[in-house]
Amino acid sequence: MIPIHFAPLQGYTDDVYRRLHHQLIGGVDCYYTPFIRIEGGGVRSKDMRDIEPTYNEGVPVVPQIILKSLKEFDYLVNVVEEKGYKEIDLNMGCPFPMQAKHGRGSGLLAHLDVVEEVVKAIQAKQHLSFSVKMRLGWEDKEEWRPVLDLLNGVPLKQITLHPRVGKQQYKGEVDMDAFQSFYELCKHPLLYNGDIMTVEAIRQMEAKYARLAGVMIGRGLLARPSLAAEYKEGRERSWQERRTQLMEMHERLKAYFEGIVNSEAQLHSKLRLFWEYMESEIERKAYKKIMKSGNLKNYLAAVQDLPRR
Ligand SMILES: Cc1cc2nc3c(=O)[nH]c(=O)nc-3n(C[C@H](O)[C@H](O)[C@H](O)COP(=O)(O)O)c2cc1C
Repeated sequence: MIPIHFAPLQGYTDDVYRRLHHQLIGGVDCYYTPFIRIEGGGVRSKDMRDIEPTYNEGVPVVPQIILKSLKEFDYLVNVVEEKGYKEIDLNMGCPFPMQAKHGRGSGLLAHLDVVEEVVKAIQAKQHLSFSVKMRLGWEDKEEWRPVLDLLNGVPLKQITLHPRVGKQQYKGEVDMDAFQSFYELCKHPLLYNGDIMTVEAIRQMEAKYARLAGVMIGRGLLARPSLAAEYKEGRERSWQERRTQLMEMHERLKAYFEGIVNSEAQLHSKLRLFWEYMESEIERKAYKKIMKSGNLKNYLAAVQDLPRR
């Protein structure tokens, strides 16, 4: 059995989602906050809220930061440390051009001078534990090599590799040959990330890579929130069980959002996201009905109508 980490997904895995997933569905060893960034000279209040200890109580969560310079690194590490965290994940994988073009996320991989400064800073902060989530590169799939040389020289809790380049976004196949090369050269515990959608796929990774420290799953867990739990339990949960859990999580999300939004339209658009990756889990017809519901009333009726199979 290998550890399962829930990948950070901006807009989806916020504090309330992580908390409810952990309480109601489980199976995940570690969650990550979507990346925290500097905007307009500070951290957005939404991001500050996401790392607030009271909203993360009892949930194994690691804050993730995204940066383009040592200055941003220092600033964000301070912010996170002040909230009492001892572990921080560094984003060197984000493919969004808005970030990557400014040298953040996968864009940082091509700036070895900055990576070198960051690595030195990591070494100086031995009271904290750092991990890195990265891609192969921004546009060239060999960019990771000198970066890994630098990362191999400092203590890290782990590296998570998504074997695509940033420019690909999520298109094309993951490059398993490149993953193999990375696996052989990486001196830190290594997690695989990318396109894992089934328990079988987790088992294949476990069988193929004896030293793998775990897998990180994003869209596969949004699509089937019980995926990690089913792997851990070694049995498939029935649709009836999964349906009951989805309904409960949805009810709790609804109760939560009702307390913070100002309109039915806002509530509708927030709740709808819960199902966005679930087309195969809830089947096409129900999925379309939920996605095309148009207003809150139709939406709630469509959710109640989820098939019983
Ligand atoms: C909508 C969306 C938001 C994401 N936000 C983040 C993020 O904040 N930080 C991060 O490291 N990766 C982010 N990612 C990348 C995922 O964490 C993950 O690496 C990617 O989805 C590939 O894994 P998967 O195939 O298991 O989904 C995001 C991906 C998507 C689709």
